[in-house]
Amino acid sequence: MDFFHETILQKYIPDFKDYLTFFCGPPALKQLVLKFYTEEKIQDQFQSEDFGATIQNGDMESSTQKVKLLFRAREEEVGSQNILDSLLNKGISLQHGCKSGICNTCACMKAKGRVKNLITGKISDDSREKIKLCVSVAMTELQLEV
Ligand code: FES
Repeated sequence: MDFFHETILQKYIPDFKDYLTFFCGPPALKQLVLKFYTEEKIQDQFQSEDFGATIQNGDMESSTQKVKLLFRAREEEVGSQNILDSLLNKGISLQHGCKSGICNTCACMKAKGRVKNLITGKISDDSREKIKLCVSVAMTELQLEV
């Protein structure tokens, strides 16, 4: 189901192209609306503000790490993308929300291993700590309590 469709915009604001648009919403919806504005060649009328931190994935080396999911008795491999998306792509159901490090819904306990925080760039030590899966990349083999 699409959360945005131009017919809805045209129904409620038929002359929307004549107005400056201020957008507020999740990144996926923003991309959808901005794509539409770009296709309509009115992207200059689209204004938005990002409230989440920009996640930089570009400097990550491509490597694969094993992640042991302690409460599920599973072991999976994750690549260089964030741990949340890696595990979701494997069909593992995990609680999440914003996917940008804001809501804390994806937070879990890391029992062992090192991760890189994609917002701060900080690499953790091997100790037990809470991490946000959506903004963490595995740097070593991990054990997670999920
Ligand atoms: S999903 Fe919101 S902080 Fe990770």
